Amino acid sequence: MNRRLEERRAAHQRYKQDVAERGKPFYPYAMFHDTLMSLIVVSVIVALAFIWKLTADEGTSDADSGWLGKLYDSKADPGTTTFVPRPDWYFYFLFYLLRIFKWPNSVILGTVGIPTIALILLLAFPFIDLRRERRPLRRPVALVAAILTVISMGALTYKGATAKESLGIENDALVPTWAQKQGFADNPQAVAGAHIFAKAGCMGCHTYLGAGGSNSGGLDKSTVGKTSNRGVQGFATYVSDPSKFGNSVMPKWKDLGQDNLLKLGAFLESSGTCHPRTAACPGK
Ligand code: HEC
Repeated sequence: MNRRLEERRAAHQRYKQDVAERGKPFYPYAMFHDTLMSLIVVSVIVALAFIWKLTADEGTSDADSGWLGKLYDSKADPGTTTFVPRPDWYFYFLFYLLRIFKWPNSVILGTVGIPTIALILLLAFPFIDLRRERRPLRRPVALVAAILTVISMGALTYKGATAKESLGIENDALVPTWAQKQGFADNPQAVAGAHIFAKAGCMGCHTYLGAGGSNSGGLDKSTVGKTSNRGVQGFATYVSDPSKFGNSVMPKWKDLGQDNLLKLGAFLESSGTCHPRTAACPGK
């Protein structure tokens, strides 16, 4: 302990001496440097903004317009069911963490816990590692930790970039297979309900016969007709406002209208309760 203290005192002495012999005062040297550099950076940004604004054509969302891209994107459509929201690439690692940690138990750990712990560690490092050694090979723990961090962030970013989304159109194409496997092909209400289920956004949270649900960890609804004894009307009521049944996570779907809710109800009721009349019914 004493030796380490002496070492640090000696190093501090050397530093003081260095400053006295070769140092330059903050004012005006460093201040001039910083001011000049800030001016250059700001000027470049302002110049880019001018080039963008002046070279692009007004009133077009043509991507080729202007040297630095178009002025504005086309208007957002709040009613879209085909748009898949994705983060910018530098958030892919966080985006993928969300998929690894399953809803609902550990998702807070994955999205808030781990990033916060990592940030606190980063801020604490200068206070934890007080040694003056800077050569990487003499600091094996730090070196291995840094390499592991880079590798895991790289892997998570790659996985996030290539992750397959649960697309409404893709899920919708599965409806005939579901109808056949679950044996509700002869029930037009249930088939219509299955299309709604595939397209309305249910599969962002729920899985059905192996499809959908990757963001939440998949709350499977393939057999809900059997496991949950609500009946067609009961399911419609539940989906219309799940908060009345103590489910504050699932949104209300009242706006689908009673007609569509009953179709969904018929679909849910037919899931896992294979109708004996249907020949295609597996195992019956
Ligand atoms: C934001 C996520 C989310 C979305 C979107 C969502 N749900 Fe749910 N849902 C849940 C959660 C959480 C539960 C409670 C856990 C469970 O039972 O799986 C649940 C439960 C259910 C249940 C279970 C009721 C029971 O008796 O077991 C049904 C049926 C259901 N959802 C149908 C739907 C339908 C239909 C849609 C689309 C119109 C939908 N959900 C959209 C999260 C969601």
